Amino acid sequence: MTAGKRPDMVVHSTAPYNAETSRTALAGSALTSVDAFYVRNHGPIPELDTEAWRLRIDGLVDSELELSLADLRSQFAQRESTVTLQCAGNRRSGLIAVRPIPGEAPWGPGATGTARWTGVALRDVLTQAGIQDIASHVELRGADRSEEADPPQRFGASITRHKALSGEVLLAWAMNGEPLPAAHGAPLRVIVPGYIGARSVKWLTAVTARRGPSENFFQARAYRLLPPDAPADAGLAGEGVALGAVGVNSDILVPEDGATVAGGETEVLGYAFAGDDRHIIRVDVSSDGGQTWAQAELLDAATLWSWRRWRVSLHLVPGPAEVVARAWDSAASAQPAGAAELWNPKGYVNNSWARIRLNVCG
Ligand code: MTE
Repeated sequence: MTAGKRPDMVVHSTAPYNAETSRTALAGSALTSVDAFYVRNHGPIPELDTEAWRLRIDGLVDSELELSLADLRSQFAQRESTVTLQCAGNRRSGLIAVRPIPGEAPWGPGATGTARWTGVALRDVLTQAGIQDIASHVELRGADRSEEADPPQRFGASITRHKALSGEVLLAWAMNGEPLPAAHGAPLRVIVPGYIGARSVKWLTAVTARRGPSENFFQARAYRLLPPDAPADAGLAGEGVALGAVGVNSDILVPEDGATVAGGETEVLGYAFAGDDRHIIRVDVSSDGGQTWAQAELLDAATLWSWRRWRVSLHLVPGPAEVVARAWDSAASAQPAGAAELWNPKGYVNNSWARIRLNVCG
């Protein structure tokens, strides 16, 4: 099972299919191509008949709606946005290096990608249904059933009313100008810019306006940031915090960790992503483990919801070298230095400095 992906994907599991984009593919372009975009699934990809599929809008609304894809296309203004998706488990391998995290995949830097998404604004649909004032959260439910959940259930999430009505959350049917593929949620998925990928529900079938957050396993119990000494299933007790907006992050894509490179001027390339409604203002790169820093050139257009790739030329002298990078966002927040301080039982949101070791030959 390859879910239509290219052979250089780093596959973490085949049932369900979970795979990350290779560093080379991420480095290659501002928009991640559809056949290289990472896939994170908690259950089998559902087979949905687009003709029969309907989106239900219910809960605390004045009029419930049932919309086909044709209704969505014809009744609402089409919107397009370039958005970076980033899984909460992106760069977990850095946390696993600190202390094991049983049962969780060792995602590297490729559980992220940037695409141009086309669809309609969730706000416009909720406005047509007449979302009531007492609704403070909006639940999003997919068609896929996850056996990983306890008890097994369909994947779901929720976002606040404020985010849902911001106009920036899309219900998308196309990705980079192509029809949304099955692996990415066809016929319709949510795109919640600036938030962990888990809130961007795929195979969307229901949107429910509620008083409180969703009780779905993936909102109430998984994707929570727990204190380091909590058991991994502490979400049962409602411990920790449900993850939403992600923090500033970056990683190095070229050269590969452990590579042998020639001494002299060496080009280092990576990505940086600010999360939420912040943007990247600076990326610092060091070849002496963080004692001195050079500023990288930011590539790609500066758009609110997407990453910036970056590039810098470093002068490397023969011998072992540790290259590190840290990004800064528009709230003047920088990535923390060490993964050890960030370790948490489920291995989420590792935004510690990017680090690679190089063997520099003379
Ligand atoms: N939506 C459904 N229905 N089922 C899922 O398993 N996984 C979530 C989210 N939406 C998921 C889902 C997670 S954890 C992430 S990171 C993103 O989808 C990944 O989106 P992608 O597979 O299109 O890259």
